[in-house]
Amino acid sequence: MDKLLLIDDEADVQYSFRRIFDSPDLQLFTASSGEEGVQLIQRLKPDLVISDIRMAGINGLETLRRIRALDPRLPVILMTAYGTTQTAIEAMKLGAYDYLLKPFDVPRLKELVAQALRAAREMRQAVTLQPMLEAEDYEVGVIGRSEAMQAIFKLIGQVAATDATVLITGESGTGKELVARAIYHYSRRNERAFLAINCAAIAENLLESELFGHEKGAFTGAAAQRIGKFEQCDGGTIFLDEIGDMSPATQTKILRVLQNGTFERVGGNQTVKVDVRVIAATNKVLEEAVANRQFREDLFYRLNVVRIQMPPLRERRADIRLLVDFFLRKLAGPGGKPKSIGPGTMALLESYSWPGNVRELENILRRATVVAKGQAILPADLPAEVVHGPTSVPGTAAPPTTSTPSSPTSPTLNTSPTAAAPTDLAGLAQALFRLGRADPKLKVLPAVERVLVIEALKETRGNQVQAARLLGITRATLRKRIEKFGIRQEVSVN
Ligand SMILES: Nc1ncnc2c1ncn2[C@@H]1O[C@H](COP(=O)(O)OP(=O)(O)OP(=O)(O)O)[C@@H](O)[C@H]1O
Ligand SMILES: [Mg+2]
Repeated sequence: MDKLLLIDDEADVQYSFRRIFDSPDLQLFTASSGEEGVQLIQRLKPDLVISDIRMAGINGLETLRRIRALDPRLPVILMTAYGTTQTAIEAMKLGAYDYLLKPFDVPRLKELVAQALRAAREMRQAVTLQPMLEAEDYEVGVIGRSEAMQAIFKLIGQVAATDATVLITGESGTGKELVARAIYHYSRRNERAFLAINCAAIAENLLESELFGHEKGAFTGAAAQRIGKFEQCDGGTIFLDEIGDMSPATQTKILRVLQNGTFERVGGNQTVKVDVRVIAATNKVLEEAVANRQFREDLFYRLNVVRIQMPPLRERRADIRLLVDFFLRKLAGPGGKPKSIGPGTMALLESYSWPGNVRELENILRRATVVAKGQAILPADLPAEVVHGPTSVPGTAAPPTTSTPSSPTSPTLNTSPTAAAPTDLAGLAQALFRLGRADPKLKVLPAVERVLVIEALKETRGNQVQAARLLGITRATLRKRIEKFGIRQEVSVN
C-alpha cells in the first residue's frame, strides 16, 4: 500500500484529501506544518509528499529543501494558490516532482499522484539480476541464464559504475525498460532521482517543453514559465524511452545536452547547465532511421557510446523455462501456490516464435492462469497462435481465443480453428484489392485501415502508443485515423 503524506495547515484541505484519497491502495497521513512533516517523513517513510507552499513556520520551499536533503528520491508535489507561480517554479528548480494550482482540479490531482507514485516505485524498487526464485516477496528481476543474457548482465555491471550514456535497443517486450532501471539501480546515482519519459507518448510539439521547460509566452498557451525534466532531474538519471520517435528539433537539443550539459528553455536565451545521466531506448533500428535521415547521425553516435542490444526471446529459448517459472510464481502472489505447466505445454512455449517477446510470454501466462480449470496449464489454455504458430498477418498477434472452453483432460491441440485467410501479406492485399474492384462503393483502403486501427486498439486495450507500434505508424497518424474514422474508444487510453 502506498503512503501519501499531506503537509498543509488548512483543515479543509486535509478534509478534502481524506475524501479524494479514500482508497484501500493508499494510506493518507497529514501534518499541519513543514517541521511536523519533515519529522514524520523519517518515521513513516512515505512514498509521496504533497505540501502547501504558504504555511506558518517553515514554508513549502524550505520544507522541500529539507526533504531533498533527507531523501532526494522522495517525490514532492507542491500546492500553490494562483499568483504565486514564481515560487512554484523555484520549487521545480529545487527538484519538486511537480506543482498544483489551488483550488485544485481533482482528476488532475489524482493523475499526478498516480504518476508520482509510479516514479517513486521505479526509483525504490530494486531491479536485481536473477532474483532468488524461492523468495516470497518478489523483487523485479531481469531473468536469464542464456549466454546472451549473461553478456547483458556483464554490460550492465560495467556501465552502471560510469556516467556513460547508454543506448538500449531491441524488439518490443525484450526488457529494455527493465535494463534501464537495473543500470540506474546499480549506478552511483541510485540515491538520486530517476525520471522516465516516453518520447512517443507525448505530442511532438510538447516534448521539447516537457524535457527542457519553456519561458512564459514562448508559445500560445505558455502562460507561465515551466521547468523541464532535465532541470528537475539535475544530478540524477533520465530515461528517454522510444527515443527513435523524437522530432529533429528535440534531437538537436538532446545532442547538445549530451555534449556539454547545456540547453535553453523553449523561447528563452538563458543557458541552463545540468548534470544528468542519459539512458535511451528504442525498438526502432536507429541505423535505418539514420540512413533515412529521420534520426541525426551525430546524435546516434553520441548515444551509441555504450550499446546494449536486447536479444529477442526466440534467440534465447533456453531462458523460456526460467521465465515461465518466474512469472507463474509472481502471478501466484506471495504465499500463493503457483500453477504448474501441463504435459506438452512447455514444448509449445519453447517452440513458439514470441514476436512480442517476454511481455507476450507474461501476458499469455497471465491469461492462462485465469482460464486454466485445474492446477496445471494445458495447451488448451494457450492462445491459438502459440499452439499452431501465427495464422494472421506477420507482426500482429491473433485475437485471444477467450471463447474456447477447455477441459483439463481434453487439450484442444488439434481442434482449434485455423484462419482460412492467406498468410502472406501480398496475397492478402491482392485479395482485398479484388474485393474492392468488385464493389465500386467500397473504399477498400480506408475500410481496411479502419479495421486494423480498431483491432490494434482492442489488442492493446486502447493504448495508443502500443497500437501505433503494432500498426507500424506514428501515434500522431494513429490519432488522425481515430478521428477520421470516428472511432470511439470505450476503453481507457493511456
Ligand atoms: N529478462 C526479463 N526477466 C523478467 N521479466 C522481463 C524480462 N524482460 C522483460 N520482462 C518483463 O516483460 C515486460 C516488458 O519489458 P519492458 O517494458 O522492459 O520491454 P521493452 O523492451 O521496454 O518493450 P517496448 O519496446 O515495448 O517498450 C515487463 O513486464 C518486464 O518486467
Ligand atoms: Mg519500453
